Amino acid sequence: MKRSSFLIASLVAGSFAYSGGAAAQADSVEAGEKLYNSTCVACHGADGKGKLPGVPDFTKSDGRLTKSDDVLVTNIMEGFKSPGSSMAMPAKGGISSLTKEQAEAMVLYMRQAFASN
Ligand code: HEC
Repeated sequence: MKRSSFLIASLVAGSFAYSGGAAAQADSVEAGEKLYNSTCVACHGADGKGKLPGVPDFTKSDGRLTKSDDVLVTNIMEGFKSPGSSMAMPAKGGISSLTKEQAEAMVLYMRQAFASN
């Protein structure tokens, strides 16, 4: 009993130490959500399932979000077309001023919103 309350106390102390980072991440998830819903939503849909033929379903457990952050961010920034695909992902999703940090924030958001199942 004593031992487990010590463990809990350490865990709580640990999460306080990291709360700065977690708050910063929550901010960028929120920024990513806003940006996603301003533009990307036209093709990808608010539910991430894709609104047009050729747009991938982000909620599939073996879908595009299984790729690494680096690959997804690069493909958002540079545009992407898979072999045989009927439609390409436009570079920066059509937002010419999009930065890499914003693309990273959207990947964070998409993972949180769509990849949970
Ligand atoms: C004009 C429609 C359109 C818009 C707007 C759009 N996408 Fe896409 N996106 C696509 C299509 C189509 C694909 C699949 C392309 C393929 O696999 O050939 C795709 C693929 C992706 C992928 C998966 C890439 C991979 O490596 O498999 C990500 C991530 C993505 N889009 C994110 C975004 C984000 C973030 C935005 C907004 C900044 C956005 N998209 C805007 C059509 C769009």
